[in-house]
Amino acid sequence: MSNYNLTSKEKYQNAYQDSMEHPEKFWEEIAEENFVWQKKWENLVDWDFSIPEIKWFEGAKLNITENCIDRHLETRGEKTAILFEPNNPDEPAQHITYNELAKRVNQFSNVLKSQGIKKGDRVCIYLPMIPELAVSLLACARIGAIHSVVFAGFSATALSTRINDSDCKMVITSDGSYRGEKTIDLKGIVDEGLESCDCVETVLVAKRINTNINMKEGRDKWLQPLLDEASVECEPEIMDAEDPLFILYTSGSTGMPKGMVHTTAGYMVYTAYTFKNIFQYEENDVYWCTADIGWITGHSYIVYGPLANGATTIMFEGVPSYPDCGRFWEIVEKHKVNQFYTAPTAIRALAKESDDYVNKYDLSSLKTLGSVGEPINEEAWNWYNEKIGKENCPIVDTWWQTETGGILISALPGITPCLPTFATLPFPGIQPALMDEIGEEINQNNTNGRLCIKFPWPSMARTIWGNHERYKETYFSAYANKYFTGDGAFRDGNGNYRITGRVDDVIIVSGHNLGTAPIEDAINEHPAVAESAIVGFPHDVKGNALYGYVTLKDSGKEIDYDNLRKEINQMITERIGPIAKLNKIQFTNGLPKTRSGKIMRRILRKIACNESDKLGDISTLLNPECVEEIIEGVFVTYA
Ligand code: WTA
Repeated sequence: MSNYNLTSKEKYQNAYQDSMEHPEKFWEEIAEENFVWQKKWENLVDWDFSIPEIKWFEGAKLNITENCIDRHLETRGEKTAILFEPNNPDEPAQHITYNELAKRVNQFSNVLKSQGIKKGDRVCIYLPMIPELAVSLLACARIGAIHSVVFAGFSATALSTRINDSDCKMVITSDGSYRGEKTIDLKGIVDEGLESCDCVETVLVAKRINTNINMKEGRDKWLQPLLDEASVECEPEIMDAEDPLFILYTSGSTGMPKGMVHTTAGYMVYTAYTFKNIFQYEENDVYWCTADIGWITGHSYIVYGPLANGATTIMFEGVPSYPDCGRFWEIVEKHKVNQFYTAPTAIRALAKESDDYVNKYDLSSLKTLGSVGEPINEEAWNWYNEKIGKENCPIVDTWWQTETGGILISALPGITPCLPTFATLPFPGIQPALMDEIGEEINQNNTNGRLCIKFPWPSMARTIWGNHERYKETYFSAYANKYFTGDGAFRDGNGNYRITGRVDDVIIVSGHNLGTAPIEDAINEHPAVAESAIVGFPHDVKGNALYGYVTLKDSGKEIDYDNLRKEINQMITERIGPIAKLNKIQFTNGLPKTRSGKIMRRILRKIACNESDKLGDISTLLNPECVEEIIEGVFVTYA
């Protein structure tokens, strides 16, 4: 294979250098060698961040499903493409081969067409983690419809806002979903959401939990009978490189969620190339990303990236705690998982449990571990490394965003060094820059700054659906000619990047810039602490002071809160300095989180600032009930 197969440190360094010096030649070689094109591009990249306008592989014609499915049939037809592990461990896993996937995607594509869906139409997908979810994404892509997946844990209001924003003609859902011991009435949520959507003509309903549901005459149709009648042949629609592939919503710091638009060729090339190299995927490996396909991680690294490489990718329907907290490790043993990719929040939750849940299982198949979604604190990193990886599996801490489409900063396992709490080095093609407060690029190392990217990469989002102005404003106006990530980062003497958290979470205390993540890291090192979140609140003398919300591993025991508070501040003093000490510490039973597991500091900030009457809609949180408890001030103590 190519020179740009990153199998050694030297190859990474050469590839990185080439990608800086001759980006066009670099991406051209990757695109030519690794994909099937109906027609090659005329212009590799055209970009102007001041408009902003970004185009990759212009003039090329392709269909991403030919790359993810058809081209594998000759050599990998009987290989498992999607390995479906159901919520209930007693229900057998399904091994969907590439041949079977081709058949299912073609049938689904024909159903979409028969229901009047055409190239360019938007289709909202609101499904649990069942095979139909992956198949429906691919079916949309095959006929050129633009999918907009909404995580099937969002409320009716959140769903209808997203459907209306992108004017979806169809919704694909199921009668319900399993989540551990619970079932969720998905179709009921869709019905409620659609009361305020006029654009939806058809709802396709997959059967999963076999409950009685309401089917609206003329609008709602059972999926299976339509699939049974559909042909297993469907020619792929030939798409232009820059035709939209999908829309995926992500929350902004304020306002409506942003419908990030990803296009076809660049997204395909970048997700496939990063998947191959960041997980060092080898032909017969079994790869498992525990994310939900409702998030970008699932789009890029459960569906498109792995399938474009002919990989075996696991889709898990359940939760890590059902039937008990050993479920992840049971699945690793059962399917002999080689690459395991999850989020720090899951790692911390499982690390709180007894090690017996881990030690019961044979995890020796594991080669690489991955982390994504938020900074991973050192304690969680160490647990992951020791207990799961047995100090024998590199941990790739992958930094990226919904907007970036693929991973931008990460170690390469076994090839470049992994460093706890550092995402480490930029991937080839990625030119990070640290910016200071006045908009100048910081050239020296061992400093903090705001993280920008100076040059386009193929999978960057091209716009916000229906609001290009907001796209420009959010990402391209803070710094001229740079993509602004909204994150802060530290760069060490070797050029390794550590993501320090959203810069909207930077708190200036007595004129000092403090990142929340390092303070939280310090607190989390306390053996009694499970998780913590820091926000700022106004202070007469310091400008801002720090408010810490802390959950304990075991709140049932007799606890000396006064003493604990002292110890926490002592740890912060030791790790960062007295300036970072907390003014208030509130012990809580839980921290408000988004469905993807991110702590909602915005809500905590409001509570800390005595603005709990201005919280806005909290119904889309994972655990809205804990907000009430925090407002009521469970276990507040003052430093
Ligand atoms: C944060 C998820 C530290 C970051 C793929 C980013 C991370 C936001 C990491 C994007 C990481 C993601 N280390 N922080 N490895 N990965 N983040 O859009 O603040 O859900 O801007 O994409 O998550 O979240 P999103």
